[in-house]
Amino acid sequence: MAGKPRDKQPSSPQSSPVMTVPRFVAAKREGRKLSMLTAYDFLWAGLFDAAGVDSILVGDTLGMVVQGHPTTLPVTLDEMIYHARMVMRGVRRALVVVDLPFLTYQVSPEQAVANAGRILKESGAAAVKLEGGVNQANTIRALSAADIPVMAHIGMKPQSVRKLGGMGKVQRDADRLLADALAAEEAGAFSIVLELIPRSISQTITSRLSIPTIGIGAGPECDGQVLVSCDMLGLTEGFHPKFLKHYADLRTVATEAVTRYVQEVRDGQFPDDAHSHE
Ligand code: KIV
Repeated sequence: MAGKPRDKQPSSPQSSPVMTVPRFVAAKREGRKLSMLTAYDFLWAGLFDAAGVDSILVGDTLGMVVQGHPTTLPVTLDEMIYHARMVMRGVRRALVVVDLPFLTYQVSPEQAVANAGRILKESGAAAVKLEGGVNQANTIRALSAADIPVMAHIGMKPQSVRKLGGMGKVQRDADRLLADALAAEEAGAFSIVLELIPRSISQTITSRLSIPTIGIGAGPECDGQVLVSCDMLGLTEGFHPKFLKHYADLRTVATEAVTRYVQEVRDGQFPDDAHSHE
């Protein structure tokens, strides 16, 4: 299995146990809110894990924020596994969930099981995520029957960008959203992401399900929250949706640091005596 030993207890400041799927589900019963962030490599995954995040999502948003594509559609299964392996090397405690990318689960439940199985076998991650509810119930059922934990994702589904004609639109069909959520739970999903849904609908879904709901742009009534890490850290440029809170402005910090470095090298100020070997 890739990564550091998973049974090792982390040192300060985190003393919480390794997050497993059953513990993740139990958090809802116990009234503990769940925090989740995306990560795509060893460096950031290790930092988020040490900071105490409950779960790390190796999201197919990596197609956009890491690879520079306009959508998540071009991301491949091999690329997801590559990033998931890096993430696993940095994580000691958080539950790692990996997105099944576009067209790796929509063709047939059998193909979904084979592809999700590759993710778990080759990366050591704990679970997969797929986009869909009613339309993916058979696939969620097949994955669950193969003991592959599945997180569903409903509301605004980025892999449906071509059908939707764009991303970022709030989804308001309450009956359809509730039907999707109930179908995902009934088929065996252990949790469900609610993306861009009015908070009253999220509240209804959250109260009707026994599995945790994880919101992104879905209000505070969800059982947990997920954000794209590059967005909340202020690394992505020109992305200011209403639901997003910037917890830092790392783009400005990094730009200023690099600008100063370039100037000091040009001016001959770096390296100086203090940074040179005699
Ligand atoms: O791929 C991703 O990062 C996601 C989040 C937006 C939930 O699915």
